[in-house]
Amino acid sequence: MSSNDSGGLTQEKLGLPGDPCAMVIFGAGGDLTKRKLMPALYNLAQGKLIPEQFAIIGISIEQYTRDQFRDQMSQDIREYAGTKVDAATWSSFAGRFYYLSGDFNDPGLYKRLSETLAQVEKEQRTEGNCLFYLATSPNFFPPVAQQLNAVGLTKQDDHTWRRVVIEKPFGHDLPSAVDLNRQLLQVLDEKQIYRIDHYLGKETVQNILAFRFANGIFEPIWNRRYVDHVQVTVAEELGVELRGGYYETAGALRDMVPNHIFQLITLTAMEPPISFDAEAVHDEQTKVLRAIQPLSPERVLDQAVRGQYDSGVINGKHVPAYRAEPHVAPDSKTPTYVAMALHIDNWRWAGVPFYLRTGKRMSRRVTNIVIRFRRPPFVLFRKTPVDRIMPNELVINIQPDEGICLRFEAKVPGPVVRLGAVNMDFQYSDYFGTPPSTGYETLLYDCMMGDPTLFQRADMVEAGWTVVQPILDVWKALPPRDFPNYASGSWGPAQADELLHREGREWAGPSCFPTARIASATAAEERATSAKS
Ligand code: BG6
Repeated sequence: MSSNDSGGLTQEKLGLPGDPCAMVIFGAGGDLTKRKLMPALYNLAQGKLIPEQFAIIGISIEQYTRDQFRDQMSQDIREYAGTKVDAATWSSFAGRFYYLSGDFNDPGLYKRLSETLAQVEKEQRTEGNCLFYLATSPNFFPPVAQQLNAVGLTKQDDHTWRRVVIEKPFGHDLPSAVDLNRQLLQVLDEKQIYRIDHYLGKETVQNILAFRFANGIFEPIWNRRYVDHVQVTVAEELGVELRGGYYETAGALRDMVPNHIFQLITLTAMEPPISFDAEAVHDEQTKVLRAIQPLSPERVLDQAVRGQYDSGVINGKHVPAYRAEPHVAPDSKTPTYVAMALHIDNWRWAGVPFYLRTGKRMSRRVTNIVIRFRRPPFVLFRKTPVDRIMPNELVINIQPDEGICLRFEAKVPGPVVRLGAVNMDFQYSDYFGTPPSTGYETLLYDCMMGDPTLFQRADMVEAGWTVVQPILDVWKALPPRDFPNYASGSWGPAQADELLHREGREWAGPSCFPTARIASATAAEERATSAKS
């Protein structure tokens, strides 16, 4: 594709290399470039999805020569690509690196960049297309965009495109997100802005659309008539590590909810879009966010839970409390855990709570979406030893152990009527293997193809912050008095359990977790062996 139109999943993804282009990375010396962007570009190159006419221009404050930059990137790719680096692919790649050292606020840098781009266009035949990737701290987003505009680098025409990729965090509350959009839109067209949320780069997240809309059997039951409630869990074993400086200003709510968790919720709850065109998908996602009932201050106190981890034990290892982590205040009030109940006020979901929880230093790493269905009438089992029927549960395992699992009741063999919960299971690795991936491959490829479907539109970002803002306000006005309130290695504070208990529900247990499957398979084998003997 060589125009600046935005494409859609259906038109563009034919497995062809991306458009000829120069990719300019602001923040080329940083962690994101090293761990994600370079390895992802290499994986794309190996999959023949990088065009022949391609160049990478790294920019950062570090004083590298072009050769030193290339060598550093080579080292990073070898370390993080998740695959053995192939000599042929690397040699096709190695001649495409350029480097500029400079301060992002210095207008002189952008003049040098213009000259370098002109040189690159000649040497690598990149046809004037440019992808500016802002892998920088968020305070540089507006100035970099403004400076690019000032030297004419954001100007596109019918034959060339200019796109700007913005990393998260996109604002730190509603007013700052609105302001950031305003500043960017003064110098760029909305269609030139690619707001990244790395959750949308995950295959399992993209698969929610395929699962829902490429199968006829789920959509008829995907609503308030059959679904009792939905749970979204993003639990991490890791603590804040060395990111205390950033995390102290963000906290779990800002860090995870208006972005990653809302992607999961909108893809799960949205109406079928009229096509896979980016606008059509974004329209439906945005409608979900707009339909979420904003929490009044009273309901924030009642329906939103915050927590901070204390020391504890994870995988047999003692880990420190959040307040003892580097760059964290010893009396920090920053939440490392949040849970809440949200209601999507539309015809499909009215009355179906969406519970979400996310936390650091939890018992185990798991990101999943649990759709819990309504219980069937008990009537048939009244005169049997069965005392209750477990509701069916569909678990979409985003990570780790990517897959989907349906839990249902089955008759336990024997003369007495007994029921046991069993799982019907799909594991990605069983069917599709696990190609090397950093999660950024699809996103980078889509930027080159001009497909913004997996990126966030301005109004989506603002709609997300609108939901979160009342919680930020109440929590700011009423600082927590019980922090730390959960032990590392637990499943979070007791109030999060109460949130569900008082509505007669509970957080999904590990029924569809891999270890549970192994345990139930072993139990089944044991039963089979004892039946034979
Ligand atoms: C990032 C957050 O956006 O997502 C981190 O800033 C968090 O705090 C991370 O750890 C989680 O991503 P993933 O892909 O490991 O689930």
